[in-house]
Amino acid sequence: MKFGHFDDKAKEYVITTPHTPQPWINYLGSNDFFSLISNTCGGYSFYKDAKLLRITRYRYNNIPVDSNGKYYYINDDGVIWNPGTMPSGTETDTYECRHGLGYSRFHSSKNNLEADLLAFVPVDAACEINCLTLKNNSDVAKNVSLFSYVEFCLWNAVDDSTNFQRNLSIGEVEVHGSTIYHKTEYRERRRHYSFFTVNAPVQNFDTSRDEFLGAGNGNAFPEAVRRKKCSNSIASGWYPIAAHQIDLTLAPGEEKTFVFMLGYCENPADNKWEAPNVIRKAPAKALIERFDTAEKAMAAFAELKTYWETLLARFAVTSSNEHVDRMANIWNQYQCMVTFNMSRSASYYESGTGRGMGFRDSCQDLLGFVHLIPERARERIIDIASTQFPDGSAYHQYQPLTKQGNLDVGSGFNDDPLWLIAAVSAYLKETGDYGILDEPVPFDCKKGSEVPLFEHLNKSFHYTATHLGPHKLPLIGRADWNDCLNLNCFSSEPGESFQTTGPSEGPVAESVFIAAMFVQYGKEFKEICLRTGHEDLAKEAESAVADMYQAVLDAGWDGEWFLRAYDSQSAKVGSKECEEGKIYIEPQGFCVMAEIGKEEGLAEKALDSVHKHLETKYGIMILQPAYTRYHLELGEISSYPPGYKENAGIFCHNNPWISIAEAVLGRGDLAFDVYRKICPSYIEEISDVHRTEPYIYSQMVAGADAARFGEAKNSWLTGTAAWTFVNLSQALLGIQPEYDGLAVNPCLPKNFGGLKIKRRYRDAEYYIDIRKPDGVEKGVAWMEVDGKKIAGNQIPLIPGKKEYHVTVQMG
Ligand code: BGC
Ligand code: NOJ
Repeated sequence: MKFGHFDDKAKEYVITTPHTPQPWINYLGSNDFFSLISNTCGGYSFYKDAKLLRITRYRYNNIPVDSNGKYYYINDDGVIWNPGTMPSGTETDTYECRHGLGYSRFHSSKNNLEADLLAFVPVDAACEINCLTLKNNSDVAKNVSLFSYVEFCLWNAVDDSTNFQRNLSIGEVEVHGSTIYHKTEYRERRRHYSFFTVNAPVQNFDTSRDEFLGAGNGNAFPEAVRRKKCSNSIASGWYPIAAHQIDLTLAPGEEKTFVFMLGYCENPADNKWEAPNVIRKAPAKALIERFDTAEKAMAAFAELKTYWETLLARFAVTSSNEHVDRMANIWNQYQCMVTFNMSRSASYYESGTGRGMGFRDSCQDLLGFVHLIPERARERIIDIASTQFPDGSAYHQYQPLTKQGNLDVGSGFNDDPLWLIAAVSAYLKETGDYGILDEPVPFDCKKGSEVPLFEHLNKSFHYTATHLGPHKLPLIGRADWNDCLNLNCFSSEPGESFQTTGPSEGPVAESVFIAAMFVQYGKEFKEICLRTGHEDLAKEAESAVADMYQAVLDAGWDGEWFLRAYDSQSAKVGSKECEEGKIYIEPQGFCVMAEIGKEEGLAEKALDSVHKHLETKYGIMILQPAYTRYHLELGEISSYPPGYKENAGIFCHNNPWISIAEAVLGRGDLAFDVYRKICPSYIEEISDVHRTEPYIYSQMVAGADAARFGEAKNSWLTGTAAWTFVNLSQALLGIQPEYDGLAVNPCLPKNFGGLKIKRRYRDAEYYIDIRKPDGVEKGVAWMEVDGKKIAGNQIPLIPGKKEYHVTVQMG
C-alpha cells in the first residue's frame, strides 16, 4: 500500500494523506540554518548545531506524536484548521504534501478556502521562509483570521528539557511591529537571538504560550485562535513563543500571500556584555529586507532549485530502469547531502542532543557526497582528522558547533582510524588534490600539535598495525563498525570505558572485520605513499597488508564463511561452532570487497553462505541465528530482542557491501538483487509494512525473527545512503573514480540493457554511453574516448579538456 507517489519531473515525493504510518519528514537548509519538517508541519529549527543552538522546541516522545512545529491556524467562520492538518488534526477537504529538494510544500483546502504553504531555507541565509497563500474559492467574501505559531527553545536543547528551575525564569522577548524577537540569553550574554516575522501588519500578537494557548491547553485549538484574538502578551520567563494574528477579508476568487520568516542573528562582538538587555536589530532588519515580498521570496526559492539542480546534475544516469534513475539522480544523492549536513545528529530518531558528528560515520558519509561538494568534503576531512589522537586513535564523535571531540563518548572504537584513510583516498580519487595531504592538522584540536594530514593517515594505519591480538588480527577495542559487539566487556567493569594498549596488555578481543578494512584501506594507504614519495612506508604497508591477508586466511576463515571475531577469551564469534550468531554479514562483505579469498575460492563460498543463511525478502540480516539470551561476553548486541537492530535486524548499511562484493565477483544478477531488496523506490508499494519514508533509506528493517518483520526504523541518518551510492554509481553502474582518472566497469543484471551517464569529474563533463549486450554481467570489451579506442577501461586525463565523450562496449 502507498501513501503517495514519486513525481520525478518535479523531483518530489507527493504525500497524499496526512495519515502516513510515521511522520514522513524532509530537511530544509544547506549551510548553517536547518529545519526538520514533517508531512503534517511538525519539526524544529536550529543553527549549525541541533544541541547547542536549537531555535525552536520539539518534544520527542510527545503525544500526539509529532505535534510541535511551525504552525499556521486558520479560523474560517469558526472552523479551525491548519495547512498540513496538525496540530488541530481537523480533516481538510484536500491535502497534499510535496517533499522536494530542500523544500516542502503543502496544499490543502477546507470549505472552499485553499492554502498553499511553501517552506524552505534560502541557499545562503540564516532563516526559514514560509510563504503562505490563502485563496477564497467560494462565491462569497470570507473573513478569515490567520495565526502563526512557533515555540522557542532556550538554545541548548538538553538544558531546555532538563534545567527547569533556571529556565522557567529566563525567557525574554521583544516585539517591534510584526517582528517578535526571542532574546533569552544562554549564559553567553547577548550572543545571538532569533526572530519570527511576517511581511504584513498584524492585528495582534502573543509571545506567552499560556496566553496564546490558554493555560493548561494543548496546541490543537489555542484559545486565541478560538476567540480570534491574541492578547499582545509579552513573555516574562515561562514559555516564550511567537504568534501573529492577521485578520483578512478575501473576496470571491481573491488570494493573498504572506511571507513569514524565522531568522537567526548573531550580535556584533562588542554587544556581548551590553546591559540592559537590548538587542541590536540591524542584522535582523537586513535579513528581513532580503525576503520581505513574495517576489523576493520566490526568487530565493528559484535560486534554491537551481542550487539543487546543479548539484545533483554532477551524476545523472538514463537507463531503462526507473527505480535506478530516480534513486541515483534524485533521492540517493539527496540523502547523501543530508547525511553530510547532519551526520547522526538530528532526525526523528536521533534527538539532536546525543550524537553529533561521528568520526566513522562522517568518514563513510563522505564516500557518498565527495563528488557533489569536493571543497566542503576537504573541510570535513580536516575537521574530522583534527579530533584524532596522537597515537592514531580517535574520538568517536565530535560536536558540530565546537568541532571538539566528545568526551562523554570518548574513544576506543578500533575501526575509527581506518575510516579516515577511506575518506581521504576517496577524496584524492575524486579531486586529485594531493595538496590536502600537506595541510597542517592538529591532534585532539590542540594548537601547536599540527602535523601534515598525511601523518594522520600514517598514524591511522599504524594504530591498527601495532594493535594486534593473539591471532595477529586487529584488536577490536570497545567495538568496531558494529557498535554493539563489545567483546571486551568481560574484562572491564560495567559501564567502564577503556583504551586498548597493546597485544600483551589489556583486552585481547580481535576483529576480522577490521582486518578486512586494513587490507582494503592499507592498499589505498600504500598507493598514497607511492604517489607522495614515501617509498619505504609503501613497502612497509604492502607487507603489513600481506601479513593481514594471511592472518585472515589462517585464523579468520570458518569453512563456509569468514569468522566475525574472537572474544576476550579467544572464543570464536560468528562461527558454525557458536550456538547462536553463527554467521555475520560484515566480514563476508568487507573481506570480499578487499578481495580476500578471491583467488583461494573462498569469496564465492562466503557470499553464497550469506544468501543461504542471511537473506530475506526484505534484505539481508546482519547475523543468524539471532541471540535469544544475553551473552555477557558479547555485550550490547545480545541485549536487543531477536530481529531488531544489530541482533539479526536487516541493518541496511552493510547490504551494499554484499552487493559490491558480488560485483567484485562479477555476479551482476545477484549484486542487483541485493540492491533492489532494500531500495526505497522498489519497496514503495509496501509502505504500510515498511512504514518509514519511501524516498530514502532507513538504518534498519526488522529481521525475520522479529514480530514486525519488514518494518523499518531510524530513517535518514544512516551510512546506507553513502554506501548505496558507492554501490550503485561505482560497482553496479561502474563509474569509478581512480587516482589517475575515471574508470568504467559496470556489473549489472544480464538483461539490464544499455545506459547513458553524465558525470562531472575534475572540472570536466563526461558523457558515457554504455552498450550492454544481453547476457553479459560484467566486463568491458572495448572503450572509445572521443571516437578513439583506448587500452584498458580507464579514461586518460587530459589537462584542460572540458568534455569527454566515451563509448563503452561490455562483453
Ligand atoms: C545502536 C547502534 C548505535 C550505538 C551507539 C546502539 O544502541 O544499536 O546502532 O550505533 O548504540 O552507541
Ligand atoms: C549506527 C552508528 O551510527 C554506526 O556508526 C554503526 O556503525 C552502526 N550503528 C552499527 O552499529
